Amino acid sequence: SHDAAPYVPDRADLAALRRAAAGCRGCPLYEDSTQTVFGAGESSSRVVLVGEIPGDQEDRRGAPFVGPAGRLLDRALEEAGIARDDAYVTNAVKHFKFTTPEGGKRRIHRSPNAAEMAACRPWLLAELRLIEPEIIVALGATAGKALLGSSFRVTQQRGRLLPCPPLDALGTRRAAEAAEAVAEGHIVATVHPSAVLRGDDRDAMYAGLVDDLRVAARALA
Ligand code: URA
Repeated sequence: SHDAAPYVPDRADLAALRRAAAGCRGCPLYEDSTQTVFGAGESSSRVVLVGEIPGDQEDRRGAPFVGPAGRLLDRALEEAGIARDDAYVTNAVKHFKFTTPEGGKRRIHRSPNAAEMAACRPWLLAELRLIEPEIIVALGATAGKALLGSSFRVTQQRGRLLPCPPLDALGTRRAAEAAEAVAEGHIVATVHPSAVLRGDDRDAMYAGLVDDLRVAARALA
């Protein structure tokens, strides 16, 4: 099996999941990265924020969203009225992926491909099954696809309360259909904080991120 499933323990709490994930070899990304970057937060969290993949700083420090994108996310969450301590923060893929141009020291982050997302999905599922959040926030298109399947489009689906498919259907082709039939909580999608940092019109993109997070905040109120 070329995925994380054999590494995910049954009936584990978050601490046990995190320990097991540290030894995951379910895809090749563990080979070149420093460590598994598992989710951070309490199992009682009402909201789970899902990013894409850890970056350079996350890889070094072993925690999600602790670099530049994380600082922007913290600020946006605060403005939207979501305390980061009330949120569980994780990524669709849990090992850093990068290239080193000209074999230098700089590690340039790369997005995960579909196979890497599929391989890592058992960890995300295990986190969501345990936490059972009321709201999942998908940060960017990759997280959206990991949750709602490959037909997800962030430009069309952002900023709305979307029915969350049953966790069994998450990320599959049946996700959207299944969500219509039996919603389990809601998903709010928005842009990725890194896209705000890179964007041409950062102020407008940041305002859009905060607006979308407010949709999640209102649903929690
Ligand atoms: N970008 C992500 O998608 N996740 C992180 O943890 C950091 C940056």
